[in-house]
Amino acid sequence: MAIERIVTTSNDDPAEIELEITLRPKDFSNYIGQERLKQNLQLAITAAKKRGEPLDHILLYGPPGLGKTTMASVIAHEMGANIRITSGPAIERAGDLASLLTNLQDGDILFIDEIHRLHRTVEEVLYSAMEDYKLDIMLGKGPSARSMRLDLPKFTIIGATTRTGSLAAPLRDRFGMMHRLEFYSPSEVAKIVERAAKILKIKIDQKAAAELAKRARLTPRIANRLLKRVRDYADVNGDGIIDTTISHQALALLEIDDLGLDPGDRMLLNAIIENYKGGPVGVETLAALTAEERSTIEDFYEPYLMQVGLLERTPRGRRVTPKAYTHLKRKSPAVEDSQTELV
Ligand code: ADE
Repeated sequence: MAIERIVTTSNDDPAEIELEITLRPKDFSNYIGQERLKQNLQLAITAAKKRGEPLDHILLYGPPGLGKTTMASVIAHEMGANIRITSGPAIERAGDLASLLTNLQDGDILFIDEIHRLHRTVEEVLYSAMEDYKLDIMLGKGPSARSMRLDLPKFTIIGATTRTGSLAAPLRDRFGMMHRLEFYSPSEVAKIVERAAKILKIKIDQKAAAELAKRARLTPRIANRLLKRVRDYADVNGDGIIDTTISHQALALLEIDDLGLDPGDRMLLNAIIENYKGGPVGVETLAALTAEERSTIEDFYEPYLMQVGLLERTPRGRRVTPKAYTHLKRKSPAVEDSQTELV
């Protein structure tokens, strides 16, 4: 059984999805961070509007929790378009996709989350739909089967994926724009925390917001989740106001350290150090050590651990860095070696 983690970036809790929708910025001016992406998108949107054309298909990729769905809804708002939100695994058959596409209007946006998980048969129908707004469908079965071409409205697909590598090349090639969402800077996350606190009427001082931001793995979804947990703590153990003392105590109770690592991350790093002398070690081994799926290691644990310089990828596998030894207050092998020499 994998550990229940507060810092996981997956989002399948209905209450949390509801919260995200409440907090979602509507337009670029309220969207904090991702400055380069916003500039690129703003340009594409202005140009498309000027020409009276639909926006090119867009692929957004990057670790979960950084706001791909939010960005898609901002794009729709800025285009003055409707958005339909679905996900790769939810479109089970080609017929499901056909019904989604034929119900769109010119200019509408279809957001497909986890687009790398589309079924093969569905994906193939999507190719001609994206390329020339045509839908090829088969009517009937066996010798009497006929194929039919339907015209589709001029829609835009926004696809989201954690990894472009898992996307079939023909699908990837049909996106006119591919953009990576980056981790946020700590000061951007602090602004996101302050904005969320204001909307949710939570009292938090600036220093405490910065403290939460520091421990939120540079990820808005985690920042907002921590904010709620710390608010609970402040309501029970204080007067509801979040200051640094309260936030320190609450985060200590949650076992989230000052780099935002939780017991799961520390277990992973310690396991590599104790069992494999710090690595390199294959991702499959890490999955076995932590009882997590390989994709969980690759999508959730690794991107942040690498971003903060605790883990590195080498051609022979993953290796912990000297910074990880320091962070975990362990002696690094280099220190041990030099001591051996001294003896
Ligand atoms: N809430 C979550 N992500 C956000 C962002 N990037 N800007 C503003 N509010 C947010």
